[in-house]
Amino acid sequence: MSAEPRRPGTALDPDRNLALELVRATEAAAISSARYVGRGDKNQVDQAAVDAMRPVLGTVGMSGVVVIGEGEKDEAPMLFNGEQVGDGSGPEVDIAVDPVDGTSAAAKGLPDAVAVVGLSERGTMFDPGPCVYMHKLVVPGAAAGAVDPEAPIADVLAAVARALGKRQEDLTVAVLDRPRHAELVADIRRAGAAVRSLLDGDVAGAIAVGQPDSGVDLLVGVGGTPEGVIAACALRCSDGELFGRLQPRDDGERAAALDFGHDLDRILTTTDLVSGDDVFFGATGVTTGALLRGVRFQRDAVVTQSLSMRSRSGAIRVIETRHDRSRSNLIRH
Ligand code: FBP
Repeated sequence: MSAEPRRPGTALDPDRNLALELVRATEAAAISSARYVGRGDKNQVDQAAVDAMRPVLGTVGMSGVVVIGEGEKDEAPMLFNGEQVGDGSGPEVDIAVDPVDGTSAAAKGLPDAVAVVGLSERGTMFDPGPCVYMHKLVVPGAAAGAVDPEAPIADVLAAVARALGKRQEDLTVAVLDRPRHAELVADIRRAGAAVRSLLDGDVAGAIAVGQPDSGVDLLVGVGGTPEGVIAACALRCSDGELFGRLQPRDDGERAAALDFGHDLDRILTTTDLVSGDDVFFGATGVTTGALLRGVRFQRDAVVTQSLSMRSRSGAIRVIETRHDRSRSNLIRH
């Protein structure tokens, strides 16, 4: 009997799925920050998440560099851009991290705050440089080839409805609730679709588009560029496409972006934002929203809901974890 040849990363030679380890880090961040949900202080939400996430990320078997993080070294004490993360033993990877996306939402007790981390091979994540904002359109994979991302939103909605075999009035579009989106929201409603207003945090909404039955069919509007890269990590692992265009806020930022080498007319696809072949993603709900349930405090336990995803295998796990209050080392309070 001849032995089957080894094929690395297949069922015959299964390798590690780092996304499962990332989930411990997002669970830790979500549990710690959830203590401050609804307490009105977004900095406390963020600090608690960073403090809890960082040591757990340090145990993950990887040699990581934060590419999308909390900002520059001098402005953020932890998980700053360029910081080395992981135990140094595993693959060399880029890391995109947001210990809580939607910190204001969490502080106000509002939905859709999530703790998120994405990984891909070193050198494969888009560097936003000076560009804080980008215009994003996220559509389900089945509609990706059917839409013109530069067309008016009414045409995009018609194309998505056709591609999904749905009626236009059955579509729900997530949009950040900002004055800059007033006309966009009016156009969506005029076209008959429903708007799901995101008071803060567009990462969960973008990822929800790639999840069947999330109730969100599209996401559109201007939001953070780093958040676009993070969402792209998740969308590479699931079924959605993000089309982005960098959106400088003023002439100074425009000039800086051009100096940095960005093409401001270019439509960036999900793969332009994260081009690796082996992308890993972990997320845990802080507050309940379209994507995940938030942290629940019980008498003897804390319960979290998370997503673990990997692009190469297409494995998507929804993980409900009961953290025993007296035994879990992820609970710090
Ligand atoms: P943080 O909670 O991580 O600070 O980000 C919140 C967020 O709402 C992002 O999800 C979104 O992309 C961006 O900020 C939108 O920016 P603004 O609030 O300036 O419109």
